[in-house]
Formats: sequence, structure tokens, C-alpha cells
Amino acid sequence: MDGNGRWAASRGLPRTAGHVAGVANVSRVVEAAPDLGIGVLTLFAFSADNWRRPQAEVQSLMELLAEYLERETPRSVANGIRLQAIGRRDRLDPGLRAAITRAEAVTAAGTRLWLRLAVDYSGRDAILAAARGLMELSRETLGTALGPPVDLLIRTGGERRLSDFLLWECAYAELVFSRRMWPDFDAADLAGAVREFRGRERRFGAVPQKLARATAAWLD
Ligand code: FPP
Repeated sequence: MDGNGRWAASRGLPRTAGHVAGVANVSRVVEAAPDLGIGVLTLFAFSADNWRRPQAEVQSLMELLAEYLERETPRSVANGIRLQAIGRRDRLDPGLRAAITRAEAVTAAGTRLWLRLAVDYSGRDAILAAARGLMELSRETLGTALGPPVDLLIRTGGERRLSDFLLWECAYAELVFSRRMWPDFDAADLAGAVREFRGRERRFGAVPQKLARATAAWLD
């Protein structure tokens, strides 16, 4: 969701106005996702390092998140969207924590889209926490504890970093970078990113399919 601040600055508005526009865009993207074949969508709403932002901005982000949950939880139930938050909860305001727990409970049966909001999230901390909770540590057990592998990672706002997001899960993610600021990243941009993803050959370390077929034919 990068670019909220710059989107606002380019219009002579305070950063918080960019975040308000960013939240409005979350609803648009969430609505478009299932029709594009997206079953799991994880949005990086607030990183564990975002606490370093000015107190007023942090507070406004937390309020926007709470408002989003209050507004969208009933709509999510109606639209088959399962809401979940990933990240630490102990540093969140108790009211926001309760809103997250409630949203997760009432949307749990949603199957159209699994919408995960990364809040106070750090990929490195998530790996540590998952590993600490495991009796037996292996790729499989850790992968299962962390969550689904990422197929496509979209970074908006012209940034080209992972910024501690889903580090393990992104092992074989296809990366798409968009210069569009998040509030302007619309359904057409999402469709474009999905198209680019579908055009990629995912080899997972193996050889390209065509080459494999040619090699097999040559060995026959
Ligand atoms: C990135 O833009 C945006 C954020 C760090 C915060 C996004 C979170 C919210 C708007 C809270 C509500 C979230 C949801 C999912 C309902 P930036 O501030 O880094 O912008 P910049 O890159 O232009 O500085």
C-alpha cells in the first residue's frame, strides 16, 4: 500500500488524507480480487517498524483500521470474505484487538476471498514466533505455521524492497513493481499485475518446461 503519503503531498494535502484515500482503495481492490482469480490477498497495513512514524500518524492509521473493520466486517460476511490479521497484537489498543478478534470470528466461514491484514507485522518476527511454537522444525512445519506461500507480490509507489514482508512465504513469489501510488492502484492495475504474473514461467528452480520436453525427446 505504498504511496499514500506522496499521493497526498502531490495534492497539497496532509499525509492522513492519503491514508484515507488508501483505505477507500482497499475496498475497491478487495472487491475486484475474487473475479481476477485471487483467493488470498494480504495487505501490508502497518509494519512493526511503522511505530517509528510520528505519533499522530500512527494514531490516525490505527483509527482508520478500526473504522475499516467496523464498516467492512458486516459487508465481508455478506460477500464471503474471511478477514484475518497477521502480526503482533499485544502492542495494539485493546479496542482494536477486540475488533480484530470479532471480525475474524464472524467472517470465519467466508470462502470467496481470504483477506489478511498485516498489522504490527514483521516477516522476521513471524518466522521466529512460528519456529518457537514448533516441536519439530522443518520446511513443512514452519511453512504451515506461517501461512500460504505467496504467488504474486505487488509493490506500489515505485518501491523495490521487501521491507520485512512475508519473507519466508515469498521464497518463490513473482514480483511486480508498480509506480502507481496506492490510492490510484485500481482494479485495472491489479488485473494488469495478474496478467503479468500469468505470463511468467514459474520454474521453482527446475528447468523451463519447453527445455525439459526437448531434453526428454532428445534422450528418447
Ligand atoms: C504506505 O504509504 C501506507 C501505510 C504505511 C499505511 C497503510 C495503512 C492504513 C491506511 C490503515 C488502514 C489499513 C487497512 C488495510 C484498512 P506511505 O505512508 O508509506 O506513503 P509514502 O510511501 O508515499 O510515504
